[in-house]
Amino acid sequence: MALLYVDQIMVRFGGVMAVSGATLLAKAGQVTGLIGPNGAGKTTLFNVINGIQDPTAGSVSIDGENVTHLAPHKRAQRGVARTFQRLELFSSLTVRDNIRVAAELAMLTNVSSTVEKLIVRVGLTDVADRTAGDLPTGSARLVEIARALATKPKLLLLDEPASGLSDIESEHLGSLLRSLADEGLGVLLVEHDMDLVMRVCDHIFVLDLGEIIADGPPAEVRQNPRVLEAYLGAS
Ligand SMILES: Nc1ncnc2c1ncn2[C@@H]1O[C@H](COP(=O)(O)OP(=O)(O)OP(=O)(O)O)[C@@H](O)[C@H]1O
Ligand SMILES: [Mg+2]
Repeated sequence: MALLYVDQIMVRFGGVMAVSGATLLAKAGQVTGLIGPNGAGKTTLFNVINGIQDPTAGSVSIDGENVTHLAPHKRAQRGVARTFQRLELFSSLTVRDNIRVAAELAMLTNVSSTVEKLIVRVGLTDVADRTAGDLPTGSARLVEIARALATKPKLLLLDEPASGLSDIESEHLGSLLRSLADEGLGVLLVEHDMDLVMRVCDHIFVLDLGEIIADGPPAEVRQNPRVLEAYLGAS
């Protein structure tokens, strides 16, 4: 059974059909890519998966349970965590406290040790006592990921985590995502950095104008004529 199953999701904003019947799945222990041109509906689909956007039609299941109409915090309790395309950190808190707040909200019993382990794991040791609002983008994105991981999720949704990162930082991010998946986490990755996507994903879904136009392993998707056309058409 898939960890995440998104079945025929439609989202209409007035006259705009942002997502029109998208079906995809994500498995535990894998990095699944969700790519597509600007405005394809990727963030809207993430909003539907974590429950901040009600779909017009279709359903979302986590571990076989239909969660389509569950509140975001109830999905979080079932293991869904996400990061945002626009960073949403507590800018006046330190890096450590940003992560701590997330761990406390998830009501973990071993908050301090979880937080300290995550700081090391994600690579934030040098900036752990700095205020989040003063961080460069690369570190701030890592704090968002650490905060999502602090809830001990089964499924991690990442919305453009490499945006604003240097090449070295995205390489580091790629290794982190790979090792998290190898330990059993399911990752759904929205990303425009194609090098990163092609390197870390086990399987990729391509969204264009609200529809899934292709899916498959990276080597297959990158040669798909419909995918090439969607990207060229958008540029
Ligand atoms: N709250 C909203 N109200 C009205 N239209 C919206 C809303 N949110 C998104 N849209 C529209 O839905 C479509 C999909 O947007 P979405 O942000 O999901 O795309 P995206 O694939 O995440 O794009 P990007 O790569 O630029 O982040 C766009 O046409 C967008 O303008
Ligand atoms: Mg987006």
